[in-house]
Amino acid sequence: MTARLLDGNALAEAILDDLRGRAEALGAKDRRPGLGTILVGDDPSSARYVEMKHEDCAKVGIASVHEQLPADVSQQELEQVIDRFNTDESIDAYLVQLPLPRDLDEEAALLAVDPSKDADGLHPVNLGRLVMGTDGPLPCTPHGIIELLAAYEVPVEGRHVVVIGRGLTIGRPLALLLTMKRAGCNAAVTVVHTGVPRADFVEHVRRGDVVIAAAGQAGLVTADMVKPGAAVVGAGTSFKGRKLLSDVHESVAEVAGWITPRIGGVGPMTRAMLLSNAVIAAERRAGSD
Ligand code: GUN
Repeated sequence: MTARLLDGNALAEAILDDLRGRAEALGAKDRRPGLGTILVGDDPSSARYVEMKHEDCAKVGIASVHEQLPADVSQQELEQVIDRFNTDESIDAYLVQLPLPRDLDEEAALLAVDPSKDADGLHPVNLGRLVMGTDGPLPCTPHGIIELLAAYEVPVEGRHVVVIGRGLTIGRPLALLLTMKRAGCNAAVTVVHTGVPRADFVEHVRRGDVVIAAAGQAGLVTADMVKPGAAVVGAGTSFKGRKLLSDVHESVAEVAGWITPRIGGVGPMTRAMLLSNAVIAAERRAGSD
């Protein structure tokens, strides 16, 4: 079998087209949406991710503001910038790029973000809304994956989805989202992680109708552990030098029914969902004038 490609680039372009129209409509009312980013330190991959977010903003007509802080910035200085973004009228939504350097308190930084400006959906209030199933900005990578599966009509509702990884930005919120009683979700979900013995891990993965790998371990999912015809999504990334590697080994394409490409799968969908959260925040703000 040769798997069909889950083309995130193509879908993200279509989503950006829609957002462009909505950003223009807001601009016509003098309410052009604004997205902010805060990057601490000089990690090259984080810097590139942030740069791509700004490139997407430019394509769509969203204003973007960036604050670069040194790796040795104090918690207090970081939170002063967060406070400034909270009150800056030109910023509808923003994010603090994660991970933060070790000495900084990530939880305190996330808590300091105004939940109504949370572009990431990672503020504890918004994660709480996700647990409760009430309306709020959704975490971008999980939301992007759900949209990608839906666009390619991959059966998810009532199916068994295996999520590999339990991190804050992907695995944990993704598992919550997948169990929600909403279109494209409503799945039976298993979360596996490094605490699961190898033989059990392989057994769990083999039972997945959909497998989503978000562990950040190159080539972790191999063809022998995939049910023939399953959909396999590579959401975790790692680097070999400057080459971006997927958690999904390329041999998986021979057994899977659907697969994300190494580049142009989940990444562009994450950015499209981020911009979508910014436009929604701007629309809400313009509507409440
Ligand atoms: N670093 C990796 N993924 C993410 C994300 O979704 N949001 C933020 N803020 N940082 C990240």
